Amino acid sequence: MQLGIRNEQSSRESRVAAPPVSVSTFVELGFDVSVETGAGDAAGFPDEEFVDAGATIVNDLSQGDAIDLLVRISPPTESDRSLIAPNGVILGLVDPAANEELLTTWGDAGITSISMEMVPRTTLAQAMDALSSQATSAGYAAVLLGVTTLTKFMPMLVTAAGTIPPSNVLILGVGVAGLQAIATAKRLGAVVYAYDIRPETKEQVESLGGRFVEAPTQTMDEGGYARAVDAETEAEQKAALAKAVADADLIITTAQVPGRKAPRLIDAAMVEAMKPGSVIIDMAASSGGNVEGSQPDTTVDVSGVHIMGPTDLASRVATDSSRMFGRNVTELVKRMVVEGEMVVDPEDPVVGPAIVAPITTPPQSEATE
Ligand code: NAI
Repeated sequence: MQLGIRNEQSSRESRVAAPPVSVSTFVELGFDVSVETGAGDAAGFPDEEFVDAGATIVNDLSQGDAIDLLVRISPPTESDRSLIAPNGVILGLVDPAANEELLTTWGDAGITSISMEMVPRTTLAQAMDALSSQATSAGYAAVLLGVTTLTKFMPMLVTAAGTIPPSNVLILGVGVAGLQAIATAKRLGAVVYAYDIRPETKEQVESLGGRFVEAPTQTMDEGGYARAVDAETEAEQKAALAKAVADADLIITTAQVPGRKAPRLIDAAMVEAMKPGSVIIDMAASSGGNVEGSQPDTTVDVSGVHIMGPTDLASRVATDSSRMFGRNVTELVKRMVVEGEMVVDPEDPVVGPAIVAPITTPPQSEATE
């Protein structure tokens, strides 16, 4: 069984899909592992460590045998196709919505695509939840980016040169990334305010030492995610958040509704009311933006307020993001190896829901039951 790890490094990607410790596990499971040279350099894992873990270093995966299991952390590229063996598998953050056509075409040719995004967020699958592991990294990195862009201290300082007040940090959207952002900003000594549409987050915010901003809340959908809000609720939210936004030195927005455009929480008038020098990090910039005027991977200046929309936050802590992703992947791959053979079982409660191509339709009798 050939397992391949590509060098995915680019200006916005420093992570590697599996660090050496994960390679050791793949070898124990019976895989021959090939890693493209330099794949882990930017994440702090040199080629020698992969060799020590049992991998073979190749200039390009196309030089060796066809790959039965290609593991990726960034979305697939056309060039991956020729590497994968007939009936082989690609597994990673394949972004199934954006790559539906590509993955369907590959699926028709016998290649199975397993999406780490579609791993169910159940207790059983917690160790395989890459959305959570990478959101943890991103929430942490967002605060550090904000702190280094801001020209103020985070904590209160009492010095001979005067007393410096602490910075106010506002976190909008308290999912996995938002919780990590609250914890990180608190550790740095900021006064932290936070808000989420899901009412149960109030307790979570307060348990981290944050202050919950009172604004409209509503219950989640059956999958545990937030539902989209109507125009009236959106207007109420903006009115309730206006003061907290105006008072904030640093705002980090993380609000997402799966399969929908990101909710608009901050409009242009709210940005105008902020102090010059304030910073907004819009983590939803690539899915429509929580902030009016934000753009992916660009800093927009509005009356001295810096609005940033970085899409590479998890990659900025590439060593630990790669470690966590590698752990997520190895736990999933363990479920796909039976007595030294790779078996992708659509009935498996974790693997099954993550198979996004080929699309299998249930037999007629079951479909009509
Ligand atoms: P996400 O990335 O989909 O969204 C981020 C946050 O934005 C969520 O907390 C959501 O409530 C919030 N949001 C959406 N619309 C909003 C609006 N209009 N105003 C304010 N906030 C808004 O969320 P993430 O981090 O992926 O987590 C989603 C859910 O999954 C959460 O309920 C989380 O607790 C749950 N979860 C469960 C896990 C498990 O049981 N193993 C693991 C990870 C997450």
